[in-house]
Amino acid sequence: MAVNRGLEDVVAAESSICKVDGEKGRLIYRGYDIDDLAENATYEEVVYLLWFGRLPVKEELETLRKELGANRALPKELVEEMKKWPKHAVPMEVLRSATSLLSMWDADASENDRSANIRKATRLTAQLPTIVAYWDCIREGRELVEPKPEHTTAASFLYLLHSGKEPDEVAVKSLDVALILHAEHELNASTFAARVAAGTLSDMHSAVTAAIGTLKGPLHGGANQEVIKMLLEIGEVANVEPYVKKMFAEKKKLMGFGHRVYKVQDPRAFHLRKMSEELCKGANQMKWYEMSTIIERLAKEEKKLNCNVDFYSASVYHVLGIPRDLFTPIFAISRISGWTAHILEQLQDNRLIRPEAEYTGHVDLKYVPIEQRKEVATAK
Ligand code: CMC
Repeated sequence: MAVNRGLEDVVAAESSICKVDGEKGRLIYRGYDIDDLAENATYEEVVYLLWFGRLPVKEELETLRKELGANRALPKELVEEMKKWPKHAVPMEVLRSATSLLSMWDADASENDRSANIRKATRLTAQLPTIVAYWDCIREGRELVEPKPEHTTAASFLYLLHSGKEPDEVAVKSLDVALILHAEHELNASTFAARVAAGTLSDMHSAVTAAIGTLKGPLHGGANQEVIKMLLEIGEVANVEPYVKKMFAEKKKLMGFGHRVYKVQDPRAFHLRKMSEELCKGANQMKWYEMSTIIERLAKEEKKLNCNVDFYSASVYHVLGIPRDLFTPIFAISRISGWTAHILEQLQDNRLIRPEAEYTGHVDLKYVPIEQRKEVATAK
């Protein structure tokens, strides 16, 4: 039996949601190139596209926006619970736990048919940004304000995060594009986790909770937080080269670089690089962009590594004034659309996902009563 470590090159599902062309560096959502969507679409249009397989007409988009707007508030009991949680709790842990708890107040919790799951997907897409924004307010002692139904996802998140201060247009537009770029990426680790959970006919909240826990890791969505940590550690443009060379000499991984599927530049990085340059210039903080471009050049020259979606998103969020540990939760509040699209697709033609392992252990040991077992020195 051939073992593909990390399931590399294994095709585990048929899907019409997204194509990642790793050789050509193309990303396609339901037939539309990510460049086209990033330049022309809104995040809500992309959500509709991912769930229903085509772009919405005006009334359909309006209906979705209204439904999202009407569902952004969290159950009062959940907010009261969150207020009791330790203030040092990591936002991704909070998001994972709060998402799991949400099912207890969900009117469709015990239903698993398509229409109930679309309602749950709508509620989760509306509620996740509120959880993240509220948690930052709770831990920092800022006021919690009610969501405004007319806000888009990006505007609502920034409005709630800043306790009712209307966000400026540039920030909303930048975040909206970032949400589009992060919305979907085929069978990445967190989406696969969601499909595995959904495939057991468990519920949507369980599948999304599994996905959030999976996204948290630094080899996946957690990388964007590590990137800004690195930029802050480097501090100044002049320190970049020695820092990166030392990392390579010590064989450490450079966060925000490399990809399992892309062999060329991640197409999402192009848009985030451009956005990073514009925002850094606008905020008079060009050093983050300059440092990033030098790191990118060195990684290419010395290791032939391309940056991925997480690299330039770090300087984008930093310049937008978003705290470092909210970077990965922002990834989640976008990817919820892709996760839920995959859960819906998995359930349309479900088969339990259950691969096998190549067993490498013993097969003929005999049980020894505990009194007769010899003490075994533990390996140091
Ligand atoms: N820095 C330095 N070397 C790297 C890096 C990196 N970021 N990425 C890959 N390599 C090297 C790696 O050391 C290995 O070299 P060798 O064959 O000499 O041992 C080779 O490239 C293959 O790496 P791998 O880790 O076996 O590749 P993978 O396909 O299992 O992992 C990855 C892909 C994304 C986990 C990996 O590139 C990585 O750890 N990158 C840093 C974390 C990161 O940026 N993650 C975000 C991924 S994209 C968006 C997302 O999913 O959130």
